Amino acid sequence: MSSGIHLSDRTVRFVLKPLVFVASLGPLSWLVWAALTANLSPNPLSDITNETGVWTLRFLCITLAITPLRKLTGWNVAIRFRRMLGLFAFFYGTLHFLTYVIADRFAALDFTGGMFTLATVRNLAASVAEDVYKRPFITVGFSAWLSMLPLALTSTAGMIRRLGGRRWNRLHRLIYLTATLGVVHYWWLVKADVSRPITYAIVVAILLGSRPYWARWRASAPVVKTARTAPAP
Ligand code: HEM
Repeated sequence: MSSGIHLSDRTVRFVLKPLVFVASLGPLSWLVWAALTANLSPNPLSDITNETGVWTLRFLCITLAITPLRKLTGWNVAIRFRRMLGLFAFFYGTLHFLTYVIADRFAALDFTGGMFTLATVRNLAASVAEDVYKRPFITVGFSAWLSMLPLALTSTAGMIRRLGGRRWNRLHRLIYLTATLGVVHYWWLVKADVSRPITYAIVVAILLGSRPYWARWRASAPVVKTARTAPAP
């Protein structure tokens, strides 16, 4: 299948990529603006935790949708946005984690010996570890974030070269685990209306369930590999 949309390398690099980059910063900009103009709820840190959590899941879904989009439309240029979108999933996941650390853990510490001391760092680490151990939805969320770490660390062209396409490809299948754990984490923490986690579960199930189909499609089609377009998890 071939797409009717033909874009030059310069258009992709100097127009589309910056546009996608700026658009991906939209949720963060909205949060900052809402916080500065008092447009968040009486519990702003909870709003920030929830918004960054949902955007992590959305970016994971968008990243997973790139391969099906390519196959369905023949628009191979889409693959050039995948790394950036995956890194934005990690970016929002890290903001989400840090908001939790500050709002949920740091705020509950006892600062009798002073706020910025080595003891505070030790107590904070112990408090996060205890919560990860005790609350199952936090265990799953933390595992989801941890599973994104190797993907972010190996996202550079140099790491792709060093690992080799096949190994990089295999490692980056971890994103399937991240998305699944993200949905489980969401489903687990929602107490009443589970319609939103169910919607994400269906989207992730479709995106992951279609993988074997695209893999078979790929096996029967010639693939051109470059450092930029290679490994398609
Ligand atoms: C890939 C990683 C993760 C994803 C996709 C994710 C996703 C989400 C989502 C969708 C929500 C609910 C938002 C809403 O209700 O509107 C949420 C809430 C939350 N997440 Fe995560 N999360 C991740 C990692 C983590 C980690 C690492 C932690 C902490 C260790 C964490 C702690 C929380 C907390 C405390 C809440 C708020 C729960 C509440 O409403 O009381 N998450 N997350």
